[in-house]
Amino acid sequence: ISLQNLNTFGIDAKARFFLEVTSLLQLQKVLGLKAYPEKFILGGGSNLLLTKDIDTLVLHINLKGISVVEEADGHVVVKAMAGENWHNLVLWSLDRGYGGLENLSLIPGNVGTAPIQNIGAYGVELKDIFESCTAMEIATGELVEFDNEACQFGYRDSIFKNKHKGKYIITSVNFRLSSKNHGLNTGYGAIETELKQRDIVYPTIRDISDAVIAIRKSKLPDPDEIGNSGSFFKNPVVSKKVVQRIKKEYPNVPSYEVDEDYFKVPAGWLIEQCGFKGKRFGDAGVHEKQALVLVNHGNATGEEILNLALKIQKEVKQRFKIEIQPEVNIIK
Ligand code: EPU
Repeated sequence: ISLQNLNTFGIDAKARFFLEVTSLLQLQKVLGLKAYPEKFILGGGSNLLLTKDIDTLVLHINLKGISVVEEADGHVVVKAMAGENWHNLVLWSLDRGYGGLENLSLIPGNVGTAPIQNIGAYGVELKDIFESCTAMEIATGELVEFDNEACQFGYRDSIFKNKHKGKYIITSVNFRLSSKNHGLNTGYGAIETELKQRDIVYPTIRDISDAVIAIRKSKLPDPDEIGNSGSFFKNPVVSKKVVQRIKKEYPNVPSYEVDEDYFKVPAGWLIEQCGFKGKRFGDAGVHEKQALVLVNHGNATGEEILNLALKIQKEVKQRFKIEIQPEVNIIK
């Protein structure tokens, strides 16, 4: 079957064997099948670039359900199954007055893949509200629990991208959310500006969500309209010296302090300086409003997108002597 509707890049790669997984028991049984020694785990398909057809068994994780598993004074723990759409979970929590997810509104993808890259936006990362997750070990079918520390979260990073890469399928995630006295995150410049424009002085969690949605819609392409995987690259972390070197030629280079000695430079800025913003090579292109986002204008193949990514990496390296790394999981 074609996976075109199951990856937000809209790449028309094919799966030779495909199964929709809707229960833990089913998942356990399928993992035990000797006929398919290798499995390809597919979640929301929002952080994925397919550059070829998949010959192994594709398991589309479609486990559903959201519930409150713990209620205490001021906070709740919400359990969401891996196949729940991320933004639906955000809306579900807002409807019930639970705070913590509002800055992460409108991020494409599913709950189960969110911890793998510790999704983050507008001043909040998943790790800030992550309590634990349950994952099934692919080799044994056993369920294992990982708490926040065990996940070793970093910037767009976790143990599931490193030591445990390809070893587990996250089946559900527990979030620790506030039920009153929400600790709002409004410090991110774009949110402040958006709230001011709306004359909001004491924002609610819903106001923040609405602001984030408006900001995202103004900058980021809607995958339903134009194929993309959000930021294609991570923002590189470079030493102070490197920032100072760039500043000599580009006094306005933006940068964000990581710690005393290291700074993040927006990859979108580096790519824009190299002249790629809004450029198009066949159906593979760079978004016109955010150079960090590669887009599929219609019928681009995964290879065409990958070639564009390589070209960008090369030019950024040539001009700035900085290597930018993909954030997207590239299947080669
Ligand atoms: N910029 C440019 N040109 C561009 C894009 C950005 O010059 O084409 C510069 C501007 O100076 C801008 C700055 O980069 O002020 C930052 O841009 P933006 O606020 O759009 O954020 P970002 O660093 O490009 C990161 C995340 C996004 C997240 C935003 C907001 C990564 C890889 N990306 O992007 O996450 O939404 O911050 O918090 O860290 C994603 O991961 O898919 C994603 C969209």
